[in-house]
Amino acid sequence: MTQRKSVYSLSVSVVIRQFKIVNLRLSLFIKPPNMYSSKIAGIGHYVPKNVYTNNDLSRFMETSDEWIQERTGIQERRFADRYEETTTTMGIEAAKVALQRAGTTAQDIDFIIFATLSPDYYFPGCGVLLQREMKMKEVGALDIRNQCSGFVYALSVADQFIKTGMYKNILVVGSEKHSFAMDFETRSRNVSVIFGDGAGAAVLQRAEKEGQGILSTHLHSDGADAEILAMHYPGAHANKWLKDKPAFSDQELGGLFFNKEILESGAALPYMDGPAVFKKAVVKFPEVIKEALAANNYTAKDIDLLVPHQANLRISQYVQQLLELPDDKVFNNIQKYGNTTAASVPIALSEAWEAGKVKEGDLICLAAFGSGFTWASALIKW
Ligand code: UT7
Repeated sequence: MTQRKSVYSLSVSVVIRQFKIVNLRLSLFIKPPNMYSSKIAGIGHYVPKNVYTNNDLSRFMETSDEWIQERTGIQERRFADRYEETTTTMGIEAAKVALQRAGTTAQDIDFIIFATLSPDYYFPGCGVLLQREMKMKEVGALDIRNQCSGFVYALSVADQFIKTGMYKNILVVGSEKHSFAMDFETRSRNVSVIFGDGAGAAVLQRAEKEGQGILSTHLHSDGADAEILAMHYPGAHANKWLKDKPAFSDQELGGLFFNKEILESGAALPYMDGPAVFKKAVVKFPEVIKEALAANNYTAKDIDLLVPHQANLRISQYVQQLLELPDDKVFNNIQKYGNTTAASVPIALSEAWEAGKVKEGDLICLAAFGSGFTWASALIKW
């Protein structure tokens, strides 16, 4: 009996081994089924009409056109209409352009990814609002909260879904209405002169040509300094920003998500330790760009256009210098719009495309760094 059992288990293990060998041989020759590539089939953007120059801001706080231009490169930015425009409505305007350029319609979209740090509501996210307003089918909607790198993260998620064949038409949106939450007093001038409102969108579809489309995406995070570029309230954290922690009896609950003291302390305003963020950004931007190039056997010389997140013109110029890229290979529009966070990469890509700087066959590199910290890149053969 024991002998018969061991003969049986031996023959089973031989069969399994043979199966594994055959399987390995097959996998070397056969491409995994349903592995497609994705491409940006259409890109669009929308910026609000209201232009605020640096001199306009100096009416509200102690700042100057000279300081802002010298430290950031920004000349003006757009602020959304207070009542008529929201993060979602701007995203919709950008999406309409992207859909039209992709030659498709809202009804063809089978997945929505919406990146923003300034959602219309704390919850639900903007994705479902866009789905409702654009009268789309009952498709999935995912909101991404990765701040300045939100759009590149969103692109990466969309790319994976197209690759596996799960979806065919994905709408990726990055939109921000910073102006609603910023403080225009001198105490917040290092933050409020930088940010602007706007939206960008892309439609992702399967690439038809071999070697075309998104070649790879690279995502990173390091939460060690999460609080140095953040909006701490409203939030469900441990309230370390409150000087006097009110004693709560066991008869009381809640009340610390948002209250009068939080409002008056300024802890509900966006906070940034600018120099610390700057130091990290100038390391991580080139790192993640080089990572994308190396993964595809390219060098910086092969880049046709680098579209960096528009954080600060000085950061972009530093990266350009380090990679030894000529002026016409780095696209910047921070001068006109400031930092529009999740919208900045798609707005810049859309403007570059409109200007004829993104052509079929071009090697395009997108890169972003921001709050979290999170940083990311995408290398695209257009
Ligand atoms: O997109 C997400 C990632 N974000 C970034 O990558 C931003 C990275 N950081 C930066 O871009 C820069 O740090 C800032 C533009 C935010 C600030 O520039 P900075 O050269 O690093 O200035 P600072 O914060 O070191 O401040 C220098 C001085 C201070 O005055 P004192 O203490 O030297 O007297 C500030 O109070 O400049 C003052 N300052 C201003 N003055 C006029 C700060 N903001 C302003 C302002 N106008 N708006």
